[in-house]
Amino acid sequence: MKQITYLDGQLCPLDEARVPVLDRGFLFGDGVYEVVRCYRGEWFRMRDHIERFARSLDEVGIENFDANWMEGIARDLLAANCKGGKMPPDLILYLQVTRGSDVVRSHVYPLEPLKPTVFGMLRSMARTDPEPAAAVTLIEDRRWGRCDIKSIALMGHVMAANQASRNGSDEAILIRDGVVTEGSCTNVAVVIHGQVITHPESPRILSGVSRKVVLELCRELGIPVVERPIRKDELLNSSEVFLMGTTHEVWPVASIDGKSLPPETPNGIIRKLKDRFSALARREPLPE
Ligand SMILES: Cc1ncc(COP(=O)(O)O)c(C=O)c1O
Repeated sequence: MKQITYLDGQLCPLDEARVPVLDRGFLFGDGVYEVVRCYRGEWFRMRDHIERFARSLDEVGIENFDANWMEGIARDLLAANCKGGKMPPDLILYLQVTRGSDVVRSHVYPLEPLKPTVFGMLRSMARTDPEPAAAVTLIEDRRWGRCDIKSIALMGHVMAANQASRNGSDEAILIRDGVVTEGSCTNVAVVIHGQVITHPESPRILSGVSRKVVLELCRELGIPVVERPIRKDELLNSSEVFLMGTTHEVWPVASIDGKSLPPETPNGIIRKLKDRFSALARREPLPE
């Protein structure tokens, strides 16, 4: 079955989707993106993703695309790909908008805003339950200073993810100035003395939608939350560490740089958050 993608207002098979070489996304990574998860045909936290997308577009000054259009694009892609059971409706939407295609390669934006290039596609994401806890590698955070913008220019993230993978790890945890910022595609939290601690929103991290959901769950469950930078030594001495992200939900950490953490406890805070997140996303009854 041919996957149907969305390109500039049209639905077309993936192998027929083309963008011009002078597209500023191709030349400069001049674009932003979003990833939204769909559980059994229902988009999870679509409104939060739209709001973050609107902010990213605004921060980089990409005009002529309204983040609210994401909902319609998601609906059209779902209908085109999942109708008649072609693709199970457990998936993720990838949507990117670049500043568009210019007539010259110039760092400076053209005087008249370009027509942005809009590309969207779906990827199956079947439930992998239970997902093994993550092995992580600590890596120096060498990314740019605006990690709060969900930019398609991901070289720092890609290099960190690959360094971690070469090390046999599932994810990188990034350290900047002795402080844990986030993962290559996740936010990071530790549990110390019953408190969930995670980096505050700032240009150093992406404000994750999953992070936001976890903090809401903590408030509901009466688990204290502290949003402050976590020092590297605190992380290394911590026995409970977890990652948060759209594709992995709440993802406990099993080892850091090859050193194992104690196994997850069935009544522990991480397990509670993981189970509740999973139930919320899948619209299942919430665990006690
Ligand atoms: C660098 C980074 N941090 C955090 C996240 C988690 O964000 P979300 O929970 O919205 O998926 C992502 C997701 O891709 C990411 O790329």
